[in-house]
Amino acid sequence: MRQDFQSILNTIYQELTSLDDKGTVASYIPELAKVDKHHFGIHLRTLDGHSYGVGDFDTRFSIQSISKVLALSQAASLVGNDIFKRVDVEPSGNPFNHLALLEIENGIPRNPLINSGAIVIADILISYLKNPKQDFLNYVRDLVGDDSIDFNLEVAHSEKITGFKNYAAANLLKSFNNLENSVDEVLYFYFHQCSIEMSCRQLTKAFYLFANKGSSLLHKAQLTESMIKRINAIMLTCGFYDEAGEFAFEVGLPGKSGVGGGIVALLPDKFVITTWSPGLNKKGNSQLGMMALEQFTSATKLSIF
Ligand code: DON
Repeated sequence: MRQDFQSILNTIYQELTSLDDKGTVASYIPELAKVDKHHFGIHLRTLDGHSYGVGDFDTRFSIQSISKVLALSQAASLVGNDIFKRVDVEPSGNPFNHLALLEIENGIPRNPLINSGAIVIADILISYLKNPKQDFLNYVRDLVGDDSIDFNLEVAHSEKITGFKNYAAANLLKSFNNLENSVDEVLYFYFHQCSIEMSCRQLTKAFYLFANKGSSLLHKAQLTESMIKRINAIMLTCGFYDEAGEFAFEVGLPGKSGVGGGIVALLPDKFVITTWSPGLNKKGNSQLGMMALEQFTSATKLSIF
């Protein structure tokens, strides 16, 4: 029997928007602090061709760390498994900007979804792409089929002037010979990558290939099934930093969060779902987004477990 996804989303939306505690909007990147925490949107696309939305699902927001999966995906399509010579695939159990492990583990980041790992992926892209920033943007645009997707230059600048920990991580990586390009060049790319703005509907399209065995929505990008298995495993174990266990426990899907308040999650062969609510919980993941996805997988009984 077909489930009534639209009414499930409506019920979740109604219940969660009525909650007083919506978490706290990220302020360590000053430009992000300007966003109204009352925004809330959910968008779902099933692989049998239906889509459903509720709330602000067409409003664009800063995708931040969600971009790390798309950068990993482009790097994987260029370099394949050699990526994993320079970045490991273990959960960190630590916040996204934690530095101590990087020094203890000789400049090999725990995984590509913490900041230090994403900075290594940015370095790989810079080495392989002719016009790194534009080529990455085009890759994302192709995944969605929308050339209006763009960087937010104010957000990228705001992050540059407050990105002390990212500079520290990049300098440590450089000192361990795990960056080929200059610290400034790599971070310039990384800050732009994180500043891309997309809506829930667009993110759902961008992540379609992870649910569709590596074939993107408009067949403009392709990853092998084996690489998709790997990236989905990395999302499941590392997509929520020190809350990855909690997300697997409550929601049971591979996914990725960003400090802009977005979360994308997917069930292979079945659907991709994106939530956006800018208020974050103490671990830096969207408070209502986590709750919405827990309610969605409980109501539909659709999870990988
Ligand atoms: O490097 C940073 O701090 C941000 N550009 C990205 C952090 C982020 O989204 C962490 N995710 N929850």
